[in-house]
Amino acid sequence: MSPHISFAVALVGILASALRVEAQTGKFKVFPYCQCTPSPGAYSLAPTVVSKTPGTYCFTVKTNPPQGCKSYCCTQADLKKLEIDINSSCRVPGVSAVATINDVRTKVAPVFDKAAQGLNGSTILKLTQLGLNLSTANGAEICITLKTNGAGQGCTTLEQLCAPPAGAPPGTCSTALFDTADDCCPGNPVNVKTCKTCVYFSLTATGAISRPYNFTATQCATLAAAVARDMSIQSAAANASISSNFSMVSCETNQLKVCGDFASDVEGGKLRAFIDDMAIQWLSQVTGDLTTSCPIALANYTVTVTVGGNGSDPAVLPSSCLDAVKSTACKPNPFPFPKCVCNTTQGISPFTPDGPITQLNGRKSKSLLYCFSIKTHTPIPGPCSSATILQKVEFWANEAVRTKVLGFSLKPTGASSWKNISATWGGKGEETLKATPLNWTLAQADGGTVCMEVDRSVALDQLCLGPTPNTCWANLFDPSRTCCPLYPTYYTI
Ligand SMILES: *[C@@H]1O[C@H](CO)[C@@H](O)[C@H](O)[C@H]1NC(C)=O
Ligand SMILES: *[C@@H]1O[C@H](CO)[C@@H](O)[C@H](O)[C@H]1NC(C)=O
Ligand SMILES: *[C@@H]1O[C@H](CO)[C@@H](O)[C@H](O)[C@H]1NC(C)=O
Ligand SMILES: *[C@@H]1O[C@H](CO)[C@@H](O)[C@H](O)[C@H]1NC(C)=O
Ligand SMILES: *[C@@H]1O[C@H](CO)[C@@H](O)[C@H](O)[C@H]1NC(C)=O
Ligand SMILES: *[C@@H]1O[C@H](CO)[C@@H](O)[C@H](O)[C@H]1NC(C)=O
Ligand SMILES: *[C@@H]1O[C@H](CO)[C@@H](O)[C@H](O)[C@H]1NC(C)=O
Ligand SMILES: *[C@@H]1O[C@H](CO)[C@@H](O)[C@H](O)[C@H]1NC(C)=O
Ligand SMILES: *[C@@H]1O[C@H](CO)[C@@H](O)[C@H](O)[C@H]1NC(C)=O
Ligand SMILES: *[C@@H]1O[C@H](CO)[C@@H](O)[C@H](O)[C@H]1NC(C)=O
Ligand SMILES: *[C@@H]1O[C@H](CO)[C@@H](O)[C@H](O)[C@H]1NC(C)=O
Repeated sequence: MSPHISFAVALVGILASALRVEAQTGKFKVFPYCQCTPSPGAYSLAPTVVSKTPGTYCFTVKTNPPQGCKSYCCTQADLKKLEIDINSSCRVPGVSAVATINDVRTKVAPVFDKAAQGLNGSTILKLTQLGLNLSTANGAEICITLKTNGAGQGCTTLEQLCAPPAGAPPGTCSTALFDTADDCCPGNPVNVKTCKTCVYFSLTATGAISRPYNFTATQCATLAAAVARDMSIQSAAANASISSNFSMVSCETNQLKVCGDFASDVEGGKLRAFIDDMAIQWLSQVTGDLTTSCPIALANYTVTVTVGGNGSDPAVLPSSCLDAVKSTACKPNPFPFPKCVCNTTQGISPFTPDGPITQLNGRKSKSLLYCFSIKTHTPIPGPCSSATILQKVEFWANEAVRTKVLGFSLKPTGASSWKNISATWGGKGEETLKATPLNWTLAQADGGTVCMEVDRSVALDQLCLGPTPNTCWANLFDPSRTCCPLYPTYYTI
């Protein structure tokens, strides 16, 4: 034998022992590949798995011995070990996993192993020293994070990892829960094939667009939060298990995409009876109450909410366990104010105008002050009902007479003198006159006064626009700018 050959043989020996290629006995042909009692037993895993972060999968232990079962496995067995039947191709050298029990890292990491008494190729993932028992196991959460080896090989999803039970589709894991003596090994199939569902908000131009409208980052965040919240609430009500919460995937100029995962198609399907109503509700967050017109900024756009699988074009989505399409073609609004998108419903913030418009003398003999009092009240519950600051007041006003507005005089409650600020106008065509910044607290706003100083050559009715005479329409903003309740304020001569 040449030295080269003996070296090669020695090397093979080392590699062989590292990978433990010794023969599998083939004594047990089905998982869990050993002599033990698979049922009845005290423990099982919840039928669905939850993924908290990508690559981490959490199983929940249930202590639920069948009624009347008096055997050792039902009444005394502890819970020492979890085994999962896996695809042998996932057991590549250097691959690893880590585990936690109730958020505490396990002392011993999960091991990829050959099933010693199984058929050639049968492979298991083994997590031992669980240290659970009949009084501690119920509700325990075992999370496993799968990692590739240095070369990026290995299985990182349970769908790739698990060898499904005979006849079951991919996405099912066979599990077994062992006691210290390896006598009991109850187990059950756990579904790991999640249902990815995405909600898309899209804007399509359907007529002449004079001002292109884009979703803003704030608007995307607000809508995505509404989807996440509604999905959570509705899923809790329908017992549908979400394995990863809904969150924003992308926010482009005219499309917002929000995705999440249900634990399985069956779980997601539990919302099928509700998803149309949910889609209408999300649509109304963009377009406003569907019985009235859309905000002016959306005129000539069609707004669509689509629910379906993961894709990029909402018109051609892969199907999902939930599907819905709802849209509204926005007509030009006959009441074209305000020009921004915000909730104009009266009463939704703590601030409202109080009483008619009053008149005072201005700083100059040629000017008059038109004064609006503000008061606070108990708002309709909603996102702006907890506002504590009155940020600004905006009026629907005629840009043609902008030079005749000399400024605003402000007197919050508690102030001993007037504060005078200049008038601010919105962009050309917005016909928006702004008293800003106010930055009044609730106490300052309650009884506070905002006065518009206007040259006497212009009547208030020439300055204030809108369908009703002697009326100034005013939006009261809190700093979030998502709510701008719109009020008519009256002037009686
Ligand atoms: C299993 O593999 C061993 C060697 O790796 C071999 O000797 C044995 O015949 C194989 N058994 C079966 C059933 O294929
Ligand atoms: C998902 O959202 C719900 C409700 O907002 C929250 O209670 C839960 O902790 C979230 N789950 C994860 C995995 O982040
Ligand atoms: C094991 O994984 C490989 C690679 O992903 C796949 O081709 C094979 O079908 C899987 N085997 C089983 C039994 O699922
Ligand atoms: C279960 O384990 C806990 C903590 O390890 C221990 O305090 C308790 O006595 C055990 N209960 C039973 C029934 O063995
Ligand atoms: C909407 O489209 C109509 C007809 O194409 C056009 O006259 C109108 O100016 C458009 N409105 C806006 C706000 O772009
Ligand atoms: C909307 O986004 C497009 C593309 O990014 C950009 O060209 C356009 O100016 C934006 N319009 C507005 C009103 O922000
Ligand atoms: C949800 O599950 C709980 C407990 O399993 C049950 O009491 C309730 O009736 C279920 N609700 C629905 C809507 O299925
Ligand atoms: C405006 O806010 C109120 C109170 O939160 C809410 O009931 C209403 O649906 C909202 N309207 C729109 C168009 O978002
Ligand atoms: C979802 O779709 C996007 C775009 O089509 C793609 O980049 C991404 O990989 C997909 N994600 C999953 C989990 O399929
Ligand atoms: C601010 O305006 C009020 C009311 O018009 C006026 O009495 C006051 O003198 C002004 N203060 C200053 C500093 O201009
Ligand atoms: C708003 O007023 C508060 C005090 O009430 C002050 O701390 C804050 O700096 C003011 N913010 C602005 C933008 O003026």
